[in-house]
Amino acid sequence: MSIDIDRARSETPRCASVLHFNNAGASLTPLAVSDAVLGFLTREAEVGGYEAELEREGDIANTYNALAKMLHCRREEIAYCESATRAWDMAFYGIPLKPGDRILTGMAEYGSNWIAMLQRARQTGAVIEVVPNDDCGQIATQALLGMLDERVKLIALTHVPSNGGLVNPAAAVGKIARDAGILYLLDACQSAGQMPLDVRELSCDFLSATGRKFLRGPRGTGFLYVRKEAMERLEPPFLDMHAAEWVSKNDYRLQPDARRFEAFEANIAAKIGLGAAVDYALSWGLDAIRERVQALAALVRLRLDAIPGVEVCDLGREKCGIVTFTVDGHDPWKLRESFAERRMNMWMSQPSGTRLDMEARHLTKLCRASVHYYNTEEEVERFCRALTEITRA
Ligand SMILES: Cc1ncc(COP(=O)(O)O)c(C=O)c1O
Repeated sequence: MSIDIDRARSETPRCASVLHFNNAGASLTPLAVSDAVLGFLTREAEVGGYEAELEREGDIANTYNALAKMLHCRREEIAYCESATRAWDMAFYGIPLKPGDRILTGMAEYGSNWIAMLQRARQTGAVIEVVPNDDCGQIATQALLGMLDERVKLIALTHVPSNGGLVNPAAAVGKIARDAGILYLLDACQSAGQMPLDVRELSCDFLSATGRKFLRGPRGTGFLYVRKEAMERLEPPFLDMHAAEWVSKNDYRLQPDARRFEAFEANIAAKIGLGAAVDYALSWGLDAIRERVQALAALVRLRLDAIPGVEVCDLGREKCGIVTFTVDGHDPWKLRESFAERRMNMWMSQPSGTRLDMEARHLTKLCRASVHYYNTEEEVERFCRALTEITRA
């Protein structure tokens, strides 16, 4: 099914007044999401927070059902979290590590994940090792195979990095991890909502993502998938009376499902909004979304390539909706300001988000234009014309 762009845009009213190429930061939310969030907030104000929650139990349950449908897993394998980072942390900090254990990761690993790995390496004596890239700039699966031994306790991979179009071969990595019996934690923060994600094909034990980016959900939302069979191999790092039951003075019992990774308190309006966002993405179809996003991003790359002084920096065999580039003699943040004056949103990538990759390629700051299915070819042309004007001025 192809996407009805006019309908998508009419259901995202802000499209009419702003060109939004910052979907990798936070997308524009569709009406289905803002209505769900505002509707719940209004009801909270009317009847009280707990009472509104009781009334809307069905909508809250729907968030789990929708996420499970999107990921092709059981609803019991989904934990709701406040962000992708907290979701990732809840899995990572629960994995037992001891001196000499090895964590394998990729060149595109996200900064917050790396910092957490460094912290745990210092605390436990485990070591972090980076799998090199292949000639296309994606994780080299052959090299990964050669690095495996019984001391490898975790493979942590960022599917799509925040600083470019790369789509890492997450399913091939998953097959290697599963065959070797090694836990596999996939950061799908930038891929969720812009392409299909099937945890059966990805063979991951854990998958973390956020709501606000390509899923077009509210800020302050995220989720963690935990494979049922992997749940017993770790203990959540934090527990409360929602994640566990206090059964006697000296004992507690963990929830039997992924709720053990959640906290009691949550922004319920945002949680319902996340469910609405996932339903909305599913209603378009993630295959159709991927096709549209990749075609638009390819057009952005083509047009940027034709502008003197512009260099597109995306890696990978398969490329997604995130386009990063440099412009000779122009600072990305200043460019962002010039675009903003024209009611055009784009963003910037800095080394702190993906330091291994940025340093290896001697990159400092990058301009980032990230497109979604509701963007248009006309917007791509307008954006590139504006860049030509700005750089000529
Ligand atoms: C690849 C990747 N992982 C994780 C995160 C963190 O997401 P959150 O801000 O929801 O914690 C980001 C945010 O940009 C990201 O790009």
